[in-house]
Amino acid sequence: MRTMVVLIYAVVLIAMGCSSIHTAEASNYEEPKIKTIHVGGKVLCQDCTQGWNEWVHGARPIKGGKVSVTCMDDRNRAVFYGSDLTDEKGQFDLIMNKYTINGKEVKANRCSVRLVSCPDATCNVPTNFSRGRSGMKLNRPSFVYRDLVKYTLGPFYYTSPMCEKSDTTHPDQSNNGRGSWPNY
Ligand SMILES: *[C@@H]1O[C@H](CO)[C@@H](O)[C@H](O)[C@H]1NC(C)=O
Repeated sequence: MRTMVVLIYAVVLIAMGCSSIHTAEASNYEEPKIKTIHVGGKVLCQDCTQGWNEWVHGARPIKGGKVSVTCMDDRNRAVFYGSDLTDEKGQFDLIMNKYTINGKEVKANRCSVRLVSCPDATCNVPTNFSRGRSGMKLNRPSFVYRDLVKYTLGPFYYTSPMCEKSDTTHPDQSNNGRGSWPNY
């Protein structure tokens, strides 16, 4: 009889041991949730005097340009604002939390990214390429993995005041706001 009690005790212990391991595993496992949103892209300077090819392909990076992201809730109230400065390659990386401090979800499709300022005095007129001036909405992520989602935008362009003048005298919004420069 005594052996029997010990045996039962042992079985109970083993069962408890197993179940506690099991629950520990279960509570440690979480569905990967998106916690961080990265928004990356480039800001470049374009000089319209070089012609279309150079305008599109020959840009130089803007360093220290400020890019911002603003996100709205369903009632059009701003729930998130963030900004970043471009590095020497003209690249920015805005990092946002998916949830605000009040636990509200920041919806990517309610966020828009725009050019704010540029320290380059010779190239500081924002163009509307990639909607840099009016604000580019976050549409399709370029990368999703576990708790990270990434959007890649742009490139955005600044141009020189001289080029801006020719832009406004020859406005062309027909090709999706990308504008075109007069032939020189
Ligand atoms: C920028 O381009 C978009 C898309 O074509 C257009 O809707 C918007 O009005 C433009 N904004 C400015 C400031 O030119």
